Amino acid sequence: MKNHITNRKANSNIYLPLNGKIEEIKELTNDVRLLKIRTESAIDYKPGQFFMISVWGAGEVPISATSLYKGNTTIELCIRKTGIVTTAIHSLEVGQSIGIRGPFGNGFPLDIPRGKDVIIVAGGIGIAPLRPIIKYLINNKYELGRVTLLYGSRTPDEIIFKDETEQWKESGISVILTVDKGNDSYSGNVGFVTNLWHTVRADFKNAIAYICGPEVMIKAAMRDLFFFGMSDEKIITTLEAHMKCGVGKCGHCYTGPKYICTDGPVFSYKQIKEQSILM
Ligand SMILES: Cc1cc2nc3c(=O)[nH]c(=O)nc-3n(C[C@H](O)[C@H](O)[C@H](O)COP(=O)(O)OP(=O)(O)OC[C@H]3O[C@@H](n4cnc5c(N)ncnc54)[C@H](O)[C@@H]3O)c2cc1C
Ligand code: FES
Repeated sequence: MKNHITNRKANSNIYLPLNGKIEEIKELTNDVRLLKIRTESAIDYKPGQFFMISVWGAGEVPISATSLYKGNTTIELCIRKTGIVTTAIHSLEVGQSIGIRGPFGNGFPLDIPRGKDVIIVAGGIGIAPLRPIIKYLINNKYELGRVTLLYGSRTPDEIIFKDETEQWKESGISVILTVDKGNDSYSGNVGFVTNLWHTVRADFKNAIAYICGPEVMIKAAMRDLFFFGMSDEKIITTLEAHMKCGVGKCGHCYTGPKYICTDGPVFSYKQIKEQSILM
């Protein structure tokens, strides 16, 4: 019998998933996995866009691309086990199929003028959609100013992409980690990312910021950066909402006057304030 997920050209029908094959699985923490998915045809996407990922018999969930598009047929997804569908995704093994619809959403603006400082603020799984930006910045670092990553996790064991943070440092990014609660073998920062602004070497008035994490962190980080003199158009975040269709039809993600799936998920602080999206 033919698989319910047929192999078709990317985006030929927005409701039908493409067939992806799990090529690699990496356990990043207790409840977070990195999946490398091979698709039948190349899918063009940009940082900040998301895919609707489905498991037969379980359902479908929005997940951000955590890889940088390189014109090939693999996509990386970093997925935390939280409920029914993400648990089903975590039960899959290498070689098994997974459904992919997308990419959807607008993605991050990456037209960073030469020499600008960049501040990236991540909380928990919020590092996933920001990772492709970090990779993009590393590839283009000769054109940029100083790049700082402030990254908060609940505990030292929950730091996602810990190995990669070392590579990011070696590539010239100032990586500052913090945790809510330390342990005996941890000697780094403890506290919220928003307590670490003093470690950021940036010309705030001319910088650009990318933020993703829990809503409370996003709100606090945006307000602080605006207070430091950043333009509200240059403070950029990506938002989460409950989603069903991913394409602006079902209304599940409607927040204020905007659909998070089609108008976002990436918004500037200016849009968020003027259109009462998050406040
Ligand atoms: C644009 C976008 C990008 C995302 N990217 C990622 C990613 O890269 N990696 C990742 O691990 N997760 C990501 N998420 C969150 C992910 O979609 C949810 O964790 C997932 O939908 C939960 O589904 P479930 O069936 O496993 O859980 P359920 O059984 O549906 O619910 C488990 C719990 O999670 C809550 N929940 C469910 N969906 C959401 C949601 N969308 N936002 C907030 N809480 C939710 C429920 O209220 C419930 O408390 C993203 C969400 C959006 C909207
Ligand atoms: S998820 Fe259906 S309208 Fe946004």
